Amino acid sequence: MFNLNGQIALVTGGSQGIGRAAALALAELGADVAIMARSAEKCEAVAEEIRAFGRRALAVPGDMSNPEEIKSVVERTASGLGPISILVNNAAITRDGLLLRMKRDDWNEVIDTNLTGVFLLIQQVLPMMTKARRGRIINLTSVVAQSGNVGQANYIAAKAGVIGLTKAVAREYGARNITVNAIAPGYIETPMTAVLPEAVKQSMLDQIPLKRAGLDQDVASAVAFLASDEAGYITGQVINVNGGMYM
Ligand SMILES: NC(=O)c1ccc[n+]([C@@H]2O[C@H](COP(=O)([O-])OP(=O)(O)OC[C@H]3O[C@@H](n4cnc5c(N)ncnc54)[C@H](OP(=O)(O)O)[C@@H]3O)[C@@H](O)[C@H]2O)c1
Repeated sequence: MFNLNGQIALVTGGSQGIGRAAALALAELGADVAIMARSAEKCEAVAEEIRAFGRRALAVPGDMSNPEEIKSVVERTASGLGPISILVNNAAITRDGLLLRMKRDDWNEVIDTNLTGVFLLIQQVLPMMTKARRGRIINLTSVVAQSGNVGQANYIAAKAGVIGLTKAVAREYGARNITVNAIAPGYIETPMTAVLPEAVKQSMLDQIPLKRAGLDQDVASAVAFLASDEAGYITGQVINVNGGMYM
């Protein structure tokens, strides 16, 4: 049903987990895809997977906390594939800790990577989308941005900021046919959550009406939908993909 032929997507954090699944889903629907993450080798591996089923793909390694690298990632994508029409802001880190013990560095690193990087990347990509009078910006936030959680003040502040940023840009660029939405995953099985203690995983499972953890493809399906023409009248929204964990 969805067709992304001719679209050019940049997926940050596309080297593993939700980002990789989203990159593959977009490519399966016809988009050409650039993969950004810090590890060049892992970006190239996903780009290779995409090329194997006939789409163009580019590894554009870079660091979301570095403004110069963000600029260069956008330039390399545009010169290698063409102007970006779909931006998936998915890269993020955690540096969890209780508030009183949270180091300023852990606060800054998470805000720089998960929020400021998203702002800078959107700023770089908007002129191309404005010129084309079509754009899809899809920002990954989190269930905890809405529910709160213990030990994640930096991550939650950044992810709640992403929701605000999503709504602000959606209003500012709606007239240019650019939609901006956020996806809030619940508990998804990825390398990010693999390291959590079993007791934490079990307590999250206990809160999920659908009685299972999400898969990266569950989130990738929502990304693919929001990128499509069929989602053209949806903007400024937060789509929950959480098995009912938070309603
Ligand atoms: N998994 C969940 O349960 C869950 C729940 C709610 C929200 N989310 C959100 O969903 C998104 C994806 O999560 P995930 O679980 O798939 O994460 P993940 O497995 O930890 O993958 C994170 C990706 O981001 C990249 N990355 C990290 N720091 C970066 C930086 N400074 N610059 C560029 N790339 C960077 C990583 O590659 P490198 O390390 O090579 O840079 C990797 O590709 C994140 O925004 C996360 O907050 C996840």
